[in-house]
Amino acid sequence: MESFWQTIKKPIIGLSPMDGITDPAFRSVVDEIGHPSILYTEFVSAEGLSRNPKRLLRTFTSHKTDTPLIGQLFGSDPIAMQEAAAILIEKTKIQGIDINMGCPARRVASHGGGAGLIKKPHDAIKLIEAVKSAIRATNKSIGLSVKTRIGYDEIVTETWIKTLLEAQPDTIALHGRTLKQMYTGVANWEEIHKASLLTKKAHILLLGNGDIQSLDEANEHIKKHTPDGILIGRGALGNPWIFQNSTPSVKIRIQTAMRHIQLFDELTPIANPLSLRKHLGWYIKGFSDASSIRNTIMKLATTKDMLDFLSSLSYSE
Ligand SMILES: Cc1cc2nc3c(=O)[nH]c(=O)nc-3n(C[C@H](O)[C@H](O)[C@H](O)COP(=O)(O)O)c2cc1C
Repeated sequence: MESFWQTIKKPIIGLSPMDGITDPAFRSVVDEIGHPSILYTEFVSAEGLSRNPKRLLRTFTSHKTDTPLIGQLFGSDPIAMQEAAAILIEKTKIQGIDINMGCPARRVASHGGGAGLIKKPHDAIKLIEAVKSAIRATNKSIGLSVKTRIGYDEIVTETWIKTLLEAQPDTIALHGRTLKQMYTGVANWEEIHKASLLTKKAHILLLGNGDIQSLDEANEHIKKHTPDGILIGRGALGNPWIFQNSTPSVKIRIQTAMRHIQLFDELTPIANPLSLRKHLGWYIKGFSDASSIRNTIMKLATTKDMLDFLSSLSYSE
């Protein structure tokens, strides 16, 4: 069955998944302001979700528009992966499931999940097949993607992408670094280009990812390295405007920070508001008195205190 991946407008400019960051409130802010093509959730353990769906399903709370939401799962056990995918399909409004094959964190990769799968191609294929089975078992048109890196301790882009293509996901998102690099050095877009030549032949979409700091840069990479789209991660922190190439005034930044807090209360009322502090710090980056504002923000414990403080800041345009 066709999924949104087959009909979505290209080039795709999406919000990359970020654990602890791309929660429902932040995704909604990005959706309202940036209008990206797609939004990814934070990653969630497939085993955890299959054992305790109630708590973890909150991560997948959707935004108000039709922008496709892709739920990301990590894990190494195909049975848990299939169960978790089935739970997401049944209980949430996600339009796509993404399998994380790129996380470098020890707690994920050393257990055979995340970027650890680059070293275990057979396991990677089994996980893709497990999610495919869960999708086939429903009558919903759910997309299937994989987000990965260009290698484990060395670059193996072409062999790795060819392996993934055998299992035929709809889309591969590729961060141009190896696991060993973590987030050091620069993303290797030449490797993303090589991958795009392979995915084009197989009629599978490729999203390039790594170090994009503006929409202009995204478009340059799309032109030069020919992916079907781009995912933006860190460039969107406190900066949902990156998807529109606009530079907001100080006043708009404060209003947006306040909107973020309101959405947090609305969408995730029982979540810990301390997770908002870092977002507020990012919105005020570059303000002339940013460091004293940040010091105050770091002491605020409730969403009401945060809103009161932000509304007390007066800025002329
Ligand atoms: C704090 C943080 C959390 C991340 N969490 C995830 C995650 O849950 N799943 C995932 O696939 N990638 C995750 N990533 C990787 C990003 O999605 C992205 O691939 C990487 O940051 C490179 O893109 P960028 O340079 O645009 O940030 C995370 C990155 C950061 C910085």
